[in-house]
Formats: sequence, C-alpha cells, structure tokens
Amino acid sequence: MTLLSPSILSADFSDLKGEIQKVEEGGADYIHLDVMDGHYVPNITFGAPVIKKLRKVTDLPFDVHLMIDRPERYIEDFVDAGADIITVHQESTTHLHRAIQLIKNLGVKAGVSLNPSTPLDSIEYILEDIDMVLIMTVNPGFGGQEFIGSMKRKIMDLRHIIDTRGLDIKIQVDGGVKLDNAKEIIDCGVDIIVVGSAIFGSKDVAEMTRLFKSL
Ligand code: DX5
Ligand code: ZN
Repeated sequence: MTLLSPSILSADFSDLKGEIQKVEEGGADYIHLDVMDGHYVPNITFGAPVIKKLRKVTDLPFDVHLMIDRPERYIEDFVDAGADIITVHQESTTHLHRAIQLIKNLGVKAGVSLNPSTPLDSIEYILEDIDMVLIMTVNPGFGGQEFIGSMKRKIMDLRHIIDTRGLDIKIQVDGGVKLDNAKEIIDCGVDIIVVGSAIFGSKDVAEMTRLFKSL
C-alpha cells in the first residue's frame, strides 16, 4: 500500500493546526514539512521552532524535508523539534554520509533527496545506510509545479536497484503529484507520495486526502 504524506507548503499558514487536522481526518499517514532557507532553494519557509509547536497538534509522524545548505548544522534542532524522518539533499552537503550518521545516531529515520538532474548512482554506496530516497519530480523550492515526466524512469530504475539488492528502503516522490497522474506514478514502484497543492489547494481538504488515499 502506498502511503500519503501531505505537504503543508500549500496550506493556510495562518491556520496550520486546522489544516493538519483536516488531513489527519482524511487518513494521511505523515505530515510533510518543507524547510527552505533561501540559499539552497530560492524560497524561505519555516524552521524547527514552528515544527516544535506543530508537534503538539497531531500524533502523525513528521516527515521533514530539508532544502537547506549544509543541513548537518541543524539536524539536532529538527530532532528536538520532533521529526520522525529527516531528509537531506544529496546536493546540499559535501559530507552526506556524515549527515546521515548524525540523523541515525539521534534515533531518527534518514532520507536522501535527489534533484531531477542528480543521478541515482550518486548515492549508490550509501544506500545501505539510509531508510528512504526522495525522488524530486519538480525542481525544489515551490509547490504547484508540473511533474517532470522523465522522472518515472528514475523511479523505476531505483525500484529495480532496491529490489535486486534486497534493500529495506522506501521510495518517496515529491512534486507535481495530482489526482490524474498519481496512479501511474505509484505504479512505477513508489512507497510514499507527497502531495501539496492538489490537497491544500482544494475546497475540501479532508475529502481530497481521502481521495488520494483511495488510489
Ligand atoms: C517542493 C516541495 C514539495 C511541494 C510539493 O520543493 O518539496 O513538497 O510542497 O508541492 P506540489 O504537490 O504542489 O507539487
Ligand atoms: Zn517536499
């Protein structure tokens, strides 16, 4: 079964508690939290203090997607804030393996994200050390962009690597997932889909969450 991680990037930031409760009611499996620093990506969102406050409003696991330069500097803050999965970008640090070890030593699941142009073989030798690979299917920084079609082959290639090597790693896909393309994306072998604008931009957030869950 594919799990659903709604991204609050497209939610009403003046009522994050209410928005999170709606997706929880709709059956979401995680809450996806997009942290952006204005350096690694051309946009700024929120940091650990906001996540720490949100930790009190739901029991859903927090899937924290760090789009920040040298994320190893802040891992501890995000663990303290209540992150359950921390995903760092392959491109955001020279010391990716060190960042992963830091996350895991603090008792949290570690994910690595790849931008559309970053090849799978850039993480070939650290796959054994991680719990999740996040395939970016848009260029990171903004919600509401269009799914990049060629990423389907990347997802299938990763599925093949994981299965043939017998690894216990989840594949997460983030960016441009809509009701009308979700099924074909899931069929490429995805474990967790992230959905932002298609859920939080809809009139009935709980109902839309239910619809994605029923796919
Ligand atoms: C983009 C973020 C995504 C974003 C997805 O950099 O990582 O999580 O919220 O939004 P949609 O689903 O609208 O593409
Ligand atoms: Zn994200």
